[in-house]
Amino acid sequence: MGERWTPKSWRNLPIEQVPTYPDMAALGAVESQIASFPPLVFAGEARKLKAALARVGAGEAFLLQGGDCAESFDEHSADNIRDFFRVFLQMAMVLTFAGGSPVVKVGRIAGQFAKPRSSPTETLEGVSLPSYRGDIVNGIGFSEEARIPDPRRQLEAYRQSAATLNLLRAFATGGYANLENAHRWMLGFVKDSPQSSRYQDVAGRMTDALDFMRAIGINPETHPEVRTTDFYTSHEALLLGYEEALTRVDSTTGDWYATSGHMLWIGDRTRQPDHAHVEYARGIKNPIGLKCGPSMKAEGLIRLIDLINPENEPGRLSLICRFGADKVGDHLPALIRAVEREGRKVVWICDPMHGNTIPAGRYKTRPFERVMQEIEGFFGVHRAEGTFAGGIHLEMTGKDVTECTGGARALTADDLQDRYHTYCDPRLNAEQALEVAFRTAELVKAERSHVERPRLDAAE
Ligand code: PEP
Ligand code: CO
Repeated sequence: MGERWTPKSWRNLPIEQVPTYPDMAALGAVESQIASFPPLVFAGEARKLKAALARVGAGEAFLLQGGDCAESFDEHSADNIRDFFRVFLQMAMVLTFAGGSPVVKVGRIAGQFAKPRSSPTETLEGVSLPSYRGDIVNGIGFSEEARIPDPRRQLEAYRQSAATLNLLRAFATGGYANLENAHRWMLGFVKDSPQSSRYQDVAGRMTDALDFMRAIGINPETHPEVRTTDFYTSHEALLLGYEEALTRVDSTTGDWYATSGHMLWIGDRTRQPDHAHVEYARGIKNPIGLKCGPSMKAEGLIRLIDLINPENEPGRLSLICRFGADKVGDHLPALIRAVEREGRKVVWICDPMHGNTIPAGRYKTRPFERVMQEIEGFFGVHRAEGTFAGGIHLEMTGKDVTECTGGARALTADDLQDRYHTYCDPRLNAEQALEVAFRTAELVKAERSHVERPRLDAAE
């Protein structure tokens, strides 16, 4: 580490969570093929996201990041992408309008295919097989054959990422995201949803505001920001051969960028400072996320910040905190104090999912109230420390699944079997996700109102 960085310098270092491919020649051939494919995102877009994240870090905007724990090849369809994008837009609108803050939108989508695992093997009824590591690596089916890592899966992951991104770009700029459609986004949403009337109320207030703006000459024709939105993609940079193949030089700046997604993050299991994943991330200029779980200590965090953001560039590094509802109060203050003491510019994000997973019979679940408690705890700590809760990072879907318990419909452990579809961790369903947005909007609003503003009478 500290040696000259190249897109493949990570290959000289120890690495965790790496699949064992039986045919290395076939893997090399696939990586060369992907290296010849067009980039999925552009450097200029990644820079724009970094500038938006700098605003989040300064308390001028709020980040909404979310999507599947693991995208799956089987669930790749226009309907799923639309349903996800729709609930995401609804959440963003609630946070913008009820929270009173601009919202930076980043999906865990169009590339979130590789998974780190707690154990290299999985045992079912006495049979042990290699763990499923995400559709980009092997198959979820519980058979010897399905679990063999197959490099050709990377070609399918690239193809699906490109197709998903293409549709998202069309939705974001082609009219679907027009704020004047906010009422229509509710169509097709779960019937009798407990959030429905609350949502229609916010959408109604926003429509009144749009009518007023139209009356004074601001409309979708004159102001594209009313009819389009900026939507970015993100995923965990876990499968480094794939990432390396899509790492390209930006012709305008001469800098290296990952072009597999706008923002990449380093997982909680692969953030060793002298290992491969940190090495890869330090050399690309994209905005980088770093998962911080309970084992992250202040000293280790500062060392990682030195490596990943040595120039202290605002928006470059987001710390995605995932301690657990009962641990956020114990762990977060020390990290914030160290970062403040050292004068480091970071964006503080709350992932209220990964520290709150519990077993429920043969399923894993996350109780909705624990998710909310971690978000509330996160805001509370930031308020006490005088720093900003910058955003939330969720595992969610636009579908009516039954994977997390609780929420307005009070799903119980017995309901999980109805529609438990996730390929990895349990996701909030569309209603639960919208509920999180409503409750978080209140917290954002309160946070913003505590910020010192110049008082009108200050000059008296
Ligand atoms: C994830 O985001 O799906 C994940 C595996 O998170 P973490 O690295 O925080 O455990
Ligand atoms: Co997950």
